[in-house]
Amino acid sequence: MNEKKVAVIGSGLMGGGIAQLCAQSGFETVNVDIAPEPLERAQALVEKLLSGKVAKGKMDQAEKDAVMGRLTYSCDFADIVDAAVVVEAVPERMDVKKATFASIDEHADPEAVLLTNTSGLSVSAIAAATARPGSVMGMHFFYPAPVMRLVELIRGLATTDDTYDRAAAFAEAIGKEAIDVPELPGFVVNRLIVPYQNEGAFLVMEGVAPEDVDRGMKLGCNHPMGPCELMDFTGIDVVLATMRGLYEQFGDSKYRPAPILQTMVDAGRLGRKTGRGFYDYTK
Ligand code: NAI
Repeated sequence: MNEKKVAVIGSGLMGGGIAQLCAQSGFETVNVDIAPEPLERAQALVEKLLSGKVAKGKMDQAEKDAVMGRLTYSCDFADIVDAAVVVEAVPERMDVKKATFASIDEHADPEAVLLTNTSGLSVSAIAAATARPGSVMGMHFFYPAPVMRLVELIRGLATTDDTYDRAAAFAEAIGKEAIDVPELPGFVVNRLIVPYQNEGAFLVMEGVAPEDVDRGMKLGCNHPMGPCELMDFTGIDVVLATMRGLYEQFGDSKYRPAPILQTMVDAGRLGRKTGRGFYDYTK
């Protein structure tokens, strides 16, 4: 096992960024996906982001070359064999997570720490897809992964202290600050931010202008973005799905989603990514 090697499974929005971060932090990193296209897109994006840093003088060319040299892309799970840490960032569906962890279990070193970036699925259920649930735990990154400083660490029921300690050390090695959070829906950050955003949506539904909701929080609480801007940035569909998850899993009416969110999703107003959300980005 190579202590300086990380395997990142999934090369989408999160996996591509986590792989970039690991390579920037000095780890030999393999980013694995099921098809070549997402890997090509991920590699091109990292190339572009690092070229931007070089152009701005934030990174020199030699450093960029070294990072790209540490980063490889593969469709073959066999390439994770010598990684000390495996980070999973495949789509947020339990069947996909379980199938992925079964493959990881088959190929990863017996001593490897296995991390899931799930936003809200049960870490214990994901771990149960392997024959080594003690080596599995959650490490929840935030978008964009190379930039946001926080990771949430989530123990599953079977996670060993050794796994937890090694995951915490890995978080530190990639420059993150970690908080210990319970294996409960929303962990800490989404449990706080999503109901707050939902309340912003209720205010809009009750006739308050999104601009006033946002200015209220920016000027009154010093938030860099108001809840409506933030929902547009995250994606209204993503906010709604997370709120619905809290509602269903806690069974508590305080988490009921604001109906306007469903209306917006039905209308295709998903936020920045579709050009229209609470605000119009097409002008
Ligand atoms: P995404 O859809 O952008 O990327 C998922 C990638 O996984 C795709 O490239 C897909 O081809 C690949 N994939 C699918 N099945 C696979 C398999 N069996 N083996 C290997 N690769 C496979 O998804 P995104 O947004 O990156 O989310 C990934 C995970 O991160 C999810 O669990 C999500 O909840 C979590 N997350 C997402 C955040 C976000 O802001 N998007 C923030 C924090 C966590």
